[in-house]
Amino acid sequence: MSKSTDELFKNVISHAKEYGFVFPSSEIYDGLSAVYDYGQNGAELKNNIKTYWWKAMVQMNDNIVGIDSAIFMHPKIWKASGHVDGFSDPMIDNKDSKKRYRADQLLEDKIAKYDSEGKTDKAEQLQHDMDEALKAEDLTRLRDLIIEHEIACPVSGTRNWTDVRQFNLMFSTQMGAVADDADTIYLRPETAQGIFVNYLNVQKSGRMKIPFGIAQIGKAFRNEVIARQFIIRMREFEQMEMQFFVRPGTQKEWFDQWKAARLKWHLALGTDAAKYRYHEHTKLAHYADAAYDIEFEFPFGFKEVEGIHSRTNFDLSQHEKFSGKKLQYFDPEVDPKTGKPYGNYVPYVIETSIGLDRMFLLTMINAYEEEDLSTEDKQDSRTVLHLPPCLAPVKAAIFPLTKKDGLPEKAREIMDKLKLDFNIQYEEKDAIGKRYRRQDAIGTPFCITVDHQTLEDNTVTIRHRDSMAQERVPADQLDKIIGDLVSW
Ligand code: GAP
Repeated sequence: MSKSTDELFKNVISHAKEYGFVFPSSEIYDGLSAVYDYGQNGAELKNNIKTYWWKAMVQMNDNIVGIDSAIFMHPKIWKASGHVDGFSDPMIDNKDSKKRYRADQLLEDKIAKYDSEGKTDKAEQLQHDMDEALKAEDLTRLRDLIIEHEIACPVSGTRNWTDVRQFNLMFSTQMGAVADDADTIYLRPETAQGIFVNYLNVQKSGRMKIPFGIAQIGKAFRNEVIARQFIIRMREFEQMEMQFFVRPGTQKEWFDQWKAARLKWHLALGTDAAKYRYHEHTKLAHYADAAYDIEFEFPFGFKEVEGIHSRTNFDLSQHEKFSGKKLQYFDPEVDPKTGKPYGNYVPYVIETSIGLDRMFLLTMINAYEEEDLSTEDKQDSRTVLHLPPCLAPVKAAIFPLTKKDGLPEKAREIMDKLKLDFNIQYEEKDAIGKRYRRQDAIGTPFCITVDHQTLEDNTVTIRHRDSMAQERVPADQLDKIIGDLVSW
């Protein structure tokens, strides 16, 4: 990370805290590693991102419905899905510092170091060796590579490493009051399985015909060995996932469609297309026959925000096997090749899975600007969030020019009407200029000032966040002016 991008990222993090977007969790107890709380503006922004996704996926597609499944699920589900046996990271401990690291992360850091030193050949060779070792699940080889490349512990600087072990990322807990009798259950590491196990319930109760999708937004939990980069890698986070059930043989066509549609969703928010790229997975998970990530260029480099996966019929077939229940769909449509109905089959699945917290950070970083407003006579600046108006936590702020002459009452009267439709904030403290700055910092698209003229002709001043231009408009048009800009 160059100094200026490093600084930008730090500034966004402190801005997020100062203006009520994101706080470290349990801060008065010195925090809890890789867990964060969303504050008053963060919760609004997060809800708006969820709504933007839900509208695009569920409301705009008449063959996609949304559900809200429980976080606790039958433990066999995680056996069937492969998470009990396979959802793990290779972990290594340093014997001196007693600190734990992901073996692949230590190697990746070394590869980045080789690259930064211009040792491209070494970087490529190590990348290749690491990929081979991961593919073969050869933990001894991973350790050997750490030793061969003289990787030192970032804390103690020593090279005294343990063996590499697999560390399961699922959190477990006990269900029931008596621990002895209780079953071990898991906090879900992805929301997807709640959709798979409900697929027939939804299909039957909603009389859904293939192709159809089920969407869900909810918390997921992973005991990440290392947590980094603020809300990029958390232990408790939120996913917005959609499983699209298709006829076997059509998965490639649907995969391509969803891959394009999801990038379009991101770009519709006005983000510079150059900040996005696709990353194709060459090493596929055991259940997938194709996978792409949508990556965004964060200040610390391109990182995955969303995954589009062609998951075959792996999950549903596994759940058939482990539950003993048939999960087949009867397709009455006639196959033109055979002249007969397609009949019974286990559908194939295309999945779109976006991390809400990563989308939140992306939105904050994209919107954040430290703007120089200096003129020849005066130095001036402001920090502004150019959030897409539909995502802004507060849509408009109402300011009485002074705290007397009936202006607060008039301002509140206008607010009471507007708040039926929009999240509105009332502010009467400090000079108007200061109030503008506070609203710029949380990305409020409009500031409305009520002054003495308002009492005479019912007009107000409306000030636009990005241009800072002001105009005088009738108060009874505010609903339409705000509505036109902040609509989805
Ligand atoms: N159901 C598929 C699945 O869970 P994934 O690639 O493991 O796929 C999907 O996760 C998305 O969830 C990622 O693209 C990322 O945005 C987000 N995500 C995953 N782990 C995360 C973590 N520890 N903290 C924050 N977001 C995470």
